[in-house]
Amino acid sequence: MKRVFSGIQPTGTLHLGNYLGAIKQWVELQNKVDESIFCIVDLHAITVSRDPKLSDQILNVAAWYLACGVDLSKSKIFVQSMRPEHTELAWILNCFSTMGELGRMTQYKEKSEGKRDAVSVGLFDYPILMAADILLYQATDVPVGDDQKQHVELARDLAIRLNNKYQGVFTVPEPIIRDDVQRIKGLDDPEKKMAKSASSEYNYIAFSDSAEIIRKKISRAVTDSGSEIVVRDDKPAMTNLLNIFSGISGRNIKSLETDFRGVGYGDFKKALAEEIILFLEPKQSRFKEIIADKDKLRKILINGAESVEPIAQKTLAKVKSKIGLGI
Ligand code: TRP
Repeated sequence: MKRVFSGIQPTGTLHLGNYLGAIKQWVELQNKVDESIFCIVDLHAITVSRDPKLSDQILNVAAWYLACGVDLSKSKIFVQSMRPEHTELAWILNCFSTMGELGRMTQYKEKSEGKRDAVSVGLFDYPILMAADILLYQATDVPVGDDQKQHVELARDLAIRLNNKYQGVFTVPEPIIRDDVQRIKGLDDPEKKMAKSASSEYNYIAFSDSAEIIRKKISRAVTDSGSEIVVRDDKPAMTNLLNIFSGISGRNIKSLETDFRGVGYGDFKKALAEEIILFLEPKQSRFKEIIADKDKLRKILINGAESVEPIAQKTLAKVKSKIGLGI
């Protein structure tokens, strides 16, 4: 039995990095496994900022999941805070984790650098909540970007730790990190991941960007010195643009390199911008239809939360009884 679990935070707008790094694989995986569950992790979102429009963002992310091809006949989608078992299991897992192992998490170290005393306890505890998300559903496979690998490994360590003590409480999950899906980098800085939290909107292509904005952003994207359009270690910017081109068009890098041999950066960028527009337009119109009926979308999310309840309850009841909580 293979069960996939993954999630995205409802902060800012979704962008091509989210699609190529996550949603694209989800849509492929949902056809290959027994069950897939895709969560909108709003409790993770509040570890860094409390956005007054969080509920709108949650609905937007849900609508984008569906617009990008998450299929409700194969997959379940739901909002993390609508299932109380996540925070309950997170508390229990807290008591089996050490300050040392959480303090070693790269994402925490980066996000808290220079302000350790000022970041929230939630930011520190974030990986435990993520472990709870995964272990609650006895997920076998967790598709994530490579920046989340360490967190999935913590979930594995905790599963093994509790299984050693209590036997058979958790399925030990595997991270799925596809190396053909490169981590998509910022358009303005190809050394860093494309991020909705970036300081400039020229960092990313949002799902909702208009054709005009896409053309502008791609034309301003950083390039490498020289003129070759190739994937190579000393060409981080072109590598990133080619990865984007390949990821959305389904064409392999080699054939793109051949086609664009001798072509100038300007013309390559024009072709890339048109490819992105072609790719996003049908998704944008589906998104508009879905978001126009918020009541229907809310119903989908309520049904989703109800449909995962039995799995979550079963795991939590098992864990509590093995530990001896309650009577
Ligand atoms: N931390 C993940 C990220 O930022 C999101 C996430 C939360 C997640 N819970 C999860 C991903 C469980 C996979 C499984 O990308």
